[in-house]
Amino acid sequence: MAIKEARGAAISETVSSIRNSAKGGEITPAVLADIKQQLISLAGEKHLFSLEDFPAPEADAKRRSCLYRLSEDDDHGFALYLNVASGKVNAPPHDHTTWAVIVGIEGQEENRFYKKATDGVEQIGSHIVEAGTGVALMPDDIHTIHIEEGAPVLNFHMYGLGLEQLHGRNFWNKNKGKWETFPAHTDIREARV
Ligand SMILES: [Fe+2]
Repeated sequence: MAIKEARGAAISETVSSIRNSAKGGEITPAVLADIKQQLISLAGEKHLFSLEDFPAPEADAKRRSCLYRLSEDDDHGFALYLNVASGKVNAPPHDHTTWAVIVGIEGQEENRFYKKATDGVEQIGSHIVEAGTGVALMPDDIHTIHIEEGAPVLNFHMYGLGLEQLHGRNFWNKNKGKWETFPAHTDIREARV
């Protein structure tokens, strides 16, 4: 089987099993832990998710990371992306307004977790996302992501709803000292088969 077909089959098998785990019901941390395990298994098929097939942004690109859409339901649910970053990335504290699971394929991405504080956020934990591990966030959970220069980073990002549909994600603007809203993503590369 060609790699593209093998990848398509592995993705669709994992996503349908994840859909089953969620069973159209309430998303809880336990359900997200299960989703995370299934994505860790998929990430183990490293040959299907290589830098060759999912290149990082060019050295002169404005953004240091890009997103490839691997799967998304017709109603925009269960949106699975491959995120690839090359170079320094520091995302400000933000929520997602839907559940999110991030799982490592290659390289390291530090996730820091926060609670809201009177003047912004206060860190309450952190986790290095790399091969064999990941993090899960409920809709209101706040995190930042940090990638160092050096080796490229590949990981899966899965959301309860596609990023183009998320118009109300909040982020802490440190310079302005206030919460603001992220515009919805628009530059996602189509990689569905
Ligand atoms: Fe995020």
